[in-house]
Amino acid sequence: MIYYKTQSEIELMRQSARLVGKAIAEIAKLIKPGVTTGKLDLAGEEFIRDHGASPSFKNYKGYPYAACISVNDAVVHGFPNGNELKEGDIISVDVGVFKNGFHGDSAYTFAVGDPGDEVLKLMKVTKESLYKGIEKSVSGNRVGDISFAIQHYCEKEYKFGVVRELVGHGLGKHLHEDPQVPNYGRRGSGLKMKEGMVIAIEPMVNLGVKEVWYDDDGWTVRTKDGKVSAHYEHTVCIQKGRADVLSSFEDIEIAEKQNPELSSNYY
Ligand code: MF3
Ligand code: CO
Repeated sequence: MIYYKTQSEIELMRQSARLVGKAIAEIAKLIKPGVTTGKLDLAGEEFIRDHGASPSFKNYKGYPYAACISVNDAVVHGFPNGNELKEGDIISVDVGVFKNGFHGDSAYTFAVGDPGDEVLKLMKVTKESLYKGIEKSVSGNRVGDISFAIQHYCEKEYKFGVVRELVGHGLGKHLHEDPQVPNYGRRGSGLKMKEGMVIAIEPMVNLGVKEVWYDDDGWTVRTKDGKVSAHYEHTVCIQKGRADVLSSFEDIEIAEKQNPELSSNYY
């Protein structure tokens, strides 16, 4: 069942989604070799609570943290922990917030120092694929148009592996609503999109094979071949002619550029 949002609900969702971007930007300021992902998670949670919101992921189906922090071969749902980041790591930070009755959901992948050109390329292509999907997110198009755009860009134009097991999703009063938004599929297939639908589009793209496995913690998804994976996510509202991106990378990209420990030389 799809819950279409009214204009005032969309504005509330924009506030939640914008706050996610600001929380990820706060985390971005702290990323450097030697910092633990557990510390980043706590800083993110504090920021969210200081802004009158709660972290959507904490206790969701038993997930124990505010953020999912996935380093290198971890694709998504990585547990923040006591391990220190090191030069050359890539780290995906996925955050959700719940405020005024609505969730926002967004994710961004950072490079600690220089992970090498191949990995920077993966990050660039994954982020670009998110925007390819967003371009298709207009009323009258079908969900498969988004899926195809992402898959085609990552797998056909570049030879990266698009993860099949996890998908984007509708969101609103619930973190996960219909429809599912796969990052692979056929053009013209799936549900026809209408104004007021809000979806999270979140390509998860591997440098090597598309296959993944679940770590012993029951949550962390890792690449089968141990190569790195990137993940970017926006909360997007379907409108006529042009998608309305409710979340924003603006603060994140400023923090990324200003933090000398992060590579942003892939722009
Ligand atoms: N962005 C992810 C998703 O929407 C994060 C969910 S993590 C969970 O699926 F812990 F909340 F499950
Ligand atoms: Co999501």
